[in-house]
Amino acid sequence: MLFVDEDYRRSGWGDKLLARAELIAMKSGELWTSTNRSNLSMRSLLRKHGFRRTGHIIGLDAGDAEIFYVKKQPDQAISCRRAADGGRGHGA
Ligand SMILES: CC(C)(COP(=O)(O)OP(=O)(O)OC[C@H]1O[C@@H](n2cnc3c(N)ncnc32)[C@H](O)[C@@H]1OP(=O)(O)O)[C@@H](O)C(=O)NCCC(=O)NCCS
Repeated sequence: MLFVDEDYRRSGWGDKLLARAELIAMKSGELWTSTNRSNLSMRSLLRKHGFRRTGHIIGLDAGDAEIFYVKKQPDQAISCRRAADGGRGHGA
């Protein structure tokens, strides 16, 4: 869980902590995370860092869907696209 003390919010700590988490997690090629639909600050932070929304689950928290995001390393994203287009690749 990414958490910045209220007294220190909007000072860039969320950016720094998420960047650090990405550095560690990207060794495995991708980073998955989730947050509540109502959490506009976290959703904005994830968008800013290039996370892609992948889906949501309704019912974990009443009336507040859980939204899932992923960020993949660039080469991982390319191999996913290649798999999706039958391995034809791009520009060939
Ligand atoms: C989400 C959270 C970690 C952001 O930390 P922060 O230190 O305030 O974030 P930063 O100052 O680094 O801001 C980085 C970006 O986050 C987003 N953001 C942060 N606070 C925001 C707010 N109040 N409204 C909208 N966007 C916000 C913006 O995209 C911002 O980029 P910008 O400054 O260029 O607009 C912090 O609000 C927090 O700890 N919230 C409570 C815990 C929580 O909900 N964690 C996530 C659980 S899934």
